[in-house]
Amino acid sequence: MTPDLSREGLVALLRLEDFSPVYEEADRVRREAVGDAVHIRALLEFSNHCRRKCAYCGLRAPRRDLPRYRMTPEEILSSVRAAWAVGYRTIVLQSGEDPWYTPALLGEIVREIKKATGMAVTLGCGELSREAYAALRQAGADRYLLKHETADEDLYQSLHPDGTLRERVHCLRTLKALGYETGSGFMVGLPGQTLDVLAKDLLLLGDIPCDMAGIGPFLPHPETPLKGAAPGSAELTRRCVALARLLLPRANLPATTALTVRGDNGRVFSGGANVVMRKITPNAYKRQYEIYPAQLPDTDIPAQRALLEDQIRSLGRVPL
Ligand code: 5AD
Repeated sequence: MTPDLSREGLVALLRLEDFSPVYEEADRVRREAVGDAVHIRALLEFSNHCRRKCAYCGLRAPRRDLPRYRMTPEEILSSVRAAWAVGYRTIVLQSGEDPWYTPALLGEIVREIKKATGMAVTLGCGELSREAYAALRQAGADRYLLKHETADEDLYQSLHPDGTLRERVHCLRTLKALGYETGSGFMVGLPGQTLDVLAKDLLLLGDIPCDMAGIGPFLPHPETPLKGAAPGSAELTRRCVALARLLLPRANLPATTALTVRGDNGRVFSGGANVVMRKITPNAYKRQYEIYPAQLPDTDIPAQRALLEDQIRSLGRVPL
């Protein structure tokens, strides 16, 4: 099949009664462009402080009931070493927007990780200045994740009182220009979102163009203004991942944790995805990093890596 990937074409595809030919095409394109590997990344959530007030997020600044934590550089390095020891070769360092970690301090942490392990370092620390992004790149950071969340300006504005879609996209273009492998992404099922908005989300990924894209269902958090909203659909999320594969054949597309929460048991891997992240955040902090409600198992870095490798092999794929 040769799918029509224009804005109208994408809407028509998302609306299909039977999407299975598109999943098959996405699987074929994935195999041809990036092969059978499923890349396993270690995810360390090193601070849950955040200065922003995003309407959907459980870490939003106005939440006074949430205990906040910051991991020290030593704690961070010790978690990273434990991941390295069991085979992880990429560390994703994620946090709220927390200026306590200055670009100089973050850069120092990146340098230490590089020196100790040589791992690929991905940062997800929100919007920073061009100078800060440049300094972190200089320190050795390889990749940066900054989801655009929604490509509709009005919806973006209603969810993000402290920023604009323009600024977000500007950051993404800056990251690209600085030589980062750049990741964006969006949520599926945000209140007020239409299929046309999802088509715009998908086209924006291609326009950047992104090297990585995380697409996950919106999950209402009870301590946020969106607590009463309905959760996003897992099926619609998988459809978006498949279309992202068609638009960006060589991209790294994770099966997002939020999709797992919605009950996906690996199905997304047969429809375009080729990356998965495992939280290695210490138990003392893990449950305080509650972006959306989820029942999280205790962290056991070696056991969870081994289990995930088995699950990937049982899908006929190659864990890396
Ligand atoms: N439901 C689903 N995803 C969420 N995120 C934040 N809050 C929620 C929520 N309530 C996603 C955003 C963010 C990423 C870290 O988690 O896409 O970029």
